[in-house]
Amino acid sequence: MANIPTFKLNDGNEIPSFGFGTFQIPADGSTYEAVKKALAAGYRHIDTAVAYFNEQEVGKAIKDSGIPRDQVWVTSKMWLQDYKYEDAKKSIATSLQKLGLDYIDLYLIHQPYGPVDEAWQAMEEAQAAGQIRSIGVSNMSAKIWNKWVPNFKVKPAVNQVEFNPYFQQKELRQVLTETQTTLEAWAPLGEGNKDLLNEPLLNDLANKYGKDVGQIILRFEHQEGVIIFPKSVHEARIKSNQEIFDFELTSAEMDAIRALDKGKGMHDPDAPGVGESLLKAYDIHANN
Ligand SMILES: NC(=O)c1ccc[n+]([C@@H]2O[C@H](COP(=O)([O-])OP(=O)(O)OC[C@H]3O[C@@H](n4cnc5c(N)ncnc54)[C@H](OP(=O)(O)O)[C@@H]3O)[C@@H](O)[C@H]2O)c1
Repeated sequence: MANIPTFKLNDGNEIPSFGFGTFQIPADGSTYEAVKKALAAGYRHIDTAVAYFNEQEVGKAIKDSGIPRDQVWVTSKMWLQDYKYEDAKKSIATSLQKLGLDYIDLYLIHQPYGPVDEAWQAMEEAQAAGQIRSIGVSNMSAKIWNKWVPNFKVKPAVNQVEFNPYFQQKELRQVLTETQTTLEAWAPLGEGNKDLLNEPLLNDLANKYGKDVGQIILRFEHQEGVIIFPKSVHEARIKSNQEIFDFELTSAEMDAIRALDKGKGMHDPDAPGVGESLLKAYDIHANN
């Protein structure tokens, strides 16, 4: 079982730098099974969201694992429909209830559109009340960050954005250093992008270290100081993805992977109409 290092956030909390992502794992028992396997394999950090519709299964898997609550880091995220102040307070209460927890380790504003300031105020208050330990944002480009964050009392502990060797967020990472905000990667494996997995450089490094390409990518991200939580529903990958703490890429190898950056990802938070189309895509109150 891997000994997973922690990173210290700007609020002093220590987050396991490696965890398990649950986006697109259905709530038909599959999330429960996947999270159970991840916890059994040694993962101690689970990333979920209201809009993944699987918080309940995540919570049950954690409870049934018997692992003490303070040894598992749980992240969830508020969705767009709930950003008005009163709705945001309810969102936090509902996530706590669905997860079956007394507190959430990290809660994020999932998408930065609509009354983000009201949602943030509710999150600051929930943090002060001990319902959430750390608060953060997601999908904030440098432009969106500069619109909102200067007005926040508490600076986000993390900004969870698309990040992998093809999209290394160089401009944004510069901005985040000012508030000592840690970058969290979504799509750390490019969501299985074949071009990325077939990159000759990454394959050469995989051969050199006796690792697979996924492990080379994840190790690169870890050495960049980025928090990662790859998703897989397959036990072999759940295990292999965390076997990245027994080797180290050299600084020349890190530079070579840095040069793979294309400066552009799958998702552009600044594109016109993104907020509206995301709002339409996930109706979290459809079954209320
Ligand atoms: N904040 C946001 O807006 C946002 C957006 C997207 C994701 N996220 C979070 O970030 C987490 C990770 O991102 P992601 O799930 O989108 O993408 P990802 O972790 O980059 O990739 C997951 C995909 O890669 C495959 N995979 C897993 N391990 C592999 C390996 N070793 N080699 C090759 N393929 C592998 C998985 O397939 P199998 O399952 O079949 O193994 C799955 O199709 C999510 O689960 C979620 O928690 C957040």
